[in-house]
Amino acid sequence: MCGIVAAAARRDIVPLLVEGLKRLEYRGYDSCGVAALADGAIARVRSVARVADLAARIARERLAGATGIAHTRWATHGAPATHNAHPLASRGEIALVHNGIIENHEELRAELKARGYAFESQTDTEVIAHLVHHCYRGDLFEAVGRAVKRLVGAYAIAVVARAEPHRVVGARMGSPLVVGAGAGETFLASDALALAGVTDRIAFLEDGDVVAIDPEGFRVRDASGREATRPLRTVQVTGAAAELGAYRHFMQKEIFEQPRAVADTLEGVERATPALFGDPTGAVLGAVDSVLVLACGTSYHAGLVARYWIESLARIPATVEIASEYRYRESVPDRRTLVVAVSQSGETADTLAALRHARSLGQKKTLAVCNVATSALVRETRLAFLTRAGVEIGVASTKAFTTQLVALFLLALTLAKLKRRLAARAEREHLARLRHLPRALGAVLALEPQLIAWAERFARKEHALFLGRGMHWPIALEGALKLKEISYIHAEAYPAGELKHGPLALVTSEMPVVTVAPNDALLEKVKSNMQEVRARGGELYVLADADTRIGAEDGVNVVRMPEHYGMLSPVLHTVPLQLLAYHAAVARGTDVDKPRNLAKSVTVE
Ligand code: M6R
Repeated sequence: MCGIVAAAARRDIVPLLVEGLKRLEYRGYDSCGVAALADGAIARVRSVARVADLAARIARERLAGATGIAHTRWATHGAPATHNAHPLASRGEIALVHNGIIENHEELRAELKARGYAFESQTDTEVIAHLVHHCYRGDLFEAVGRAVKRLVGAYAIAVVARAEPHRVVGARMGSPLVVGAGAGETFLASDALALAGVTDRIAFLEDGDVVAIDPEGFRVRDASGREATRPLRTVQVTGAAAELGAYRHFMQKEIFEQPRAVADTLEGVERATPALFGDPTGAVLGAVDSVLVLACGTSYHAGLVARYWIESLARIPATVEIASEYRYRESVPDRRTLVVAVSQSGETADTLAALRHARSLGQKKTLAVCNVATSALVRETRLAFLTRAGVEIGVASTKAFTTQLVALFLLALTLAKLKRRLAARAEREHLARLRHLPRALGAVLALEPQLIAWAERFARKEHALFLGRGMHWPIALEGALKLKEISYIHAEAYPAGELKHGPLALVTSEMPVVTVAPNDALLEKVKSNMQEVRARGGELYVLADADTRIGAEDGVNVVRMPEHYGMLSPVLHTVPLQLLAYHAAVARGTDVDKPRNLAKSVTVE
């Protein structure tokens, strides 16, 4: 979950590396640094502040060079401190940046110390720098190839050697790394986004690859050490996606992009058909009799909503598992289960590992619901549905979630149709409701002033409870996750019926209780749960429909949701909770897009 960008060029490349780092900050922002080769030496500048601070230091220290490596870090081994910031160096001869975790670093550290290497950091990365130095016999490509054979764990690395001033060598295993080909300059990056506006000709490296780049091009050796071809493809990544425009934060921009993101995701969808998922004959989806969703965080919440849709529409069992749990559990595999891996990034280490685990158990019917066409997840699944949310920069996931819900609703409809449980008229009706979603989302976004008023009161609290029932319980979970991750207010979500089994003990006038209360079959139950809160002096913040007879009164604050279609109501109820979290965080003055301790893509275990 760190970001790497590197270049071998014929011009000063440091400003481009810094620009690349700004675009990769979503991958981690605990510290950052650049190393450049110039005048026969490797010079490094590092910072424990953000990339903007690094840029100022680079200007002061006049760092320049045509070959360089750069890094933005999410700390795993070693606190965020300058001596732990990358690039890490070995004896002034080798410098290296790394994304991933080296599991055998302790053993390697002991061995390298015994060989006389002095360590300056607490990172696992520094062992790779010294190992490359130890393996170096005048050819960096060879040295990295030898060194990575000793590594256990996940890595993407970029390495320079003082003695080879026009070359960068990279390698990947389990962490993403791409090559970008420009005119007279070549790049390495964790994500093509880092190279937006520089080059759109991208080659995707595979696990086990070692690559050498110079201004003229690149060479790849695969895991067996043989020369390999990794074709260049044109990848459209515009820098504009990474611009804020009129918005104050990316999260705010992305919340307001949801009508467009949902419309784009639905573009060209005329029927619920297996072809939408890359299965034109229905051979895979038609042979499925249960569904297992694997995901983390917000994507897991999307899976929880989908379970209700799949079971009620297609009438087949659906289970949803947190990927990091599933991968280590002795589950009972079923070859007729459709394994659905849901991920915005398609690079989440736990989700990828869970998918591989499912496959290793013989579950070969796999589908990715993902926002990144070029991600490992999409490459590794048999079927894929690409959400068209566009690049999501804010660490708090918003538009990715609503578009995942759209994709999963289409999956539920498709499975229902294949099971002959969806009449043509009902299919048309559901699709028409889906197409209405962008407009309905627009109406919910217009509620923002009321959510700002709620947020100002929340900003003074330290705890909050979120309640929902049925398919709105995952929405309560999602609301609580959003609030805690960006405002740092402790928030928990419960199925409202569970309140009396413990959490009710927490309710006081200091504990705001957000209740998702649409007019569905469970409304009267939810109202009883609300009474339980009021009777204990708890203050309620309720999302209610016009016809629910829930009135605003002392201790009961109500935001009225616009009219909407029941089945799709989770999509709409998510948005006010996103706005509540966003404005509470703004009122508390937190770093909304880069909340403390987090990173956008969690590419380590
Ligand atoms: O890229 P993914 O969807 O696989 O990411 C999964 C989670 O890391 C992610 O949803 C995380 O929980 C978000 N920060 C939540 O807003």
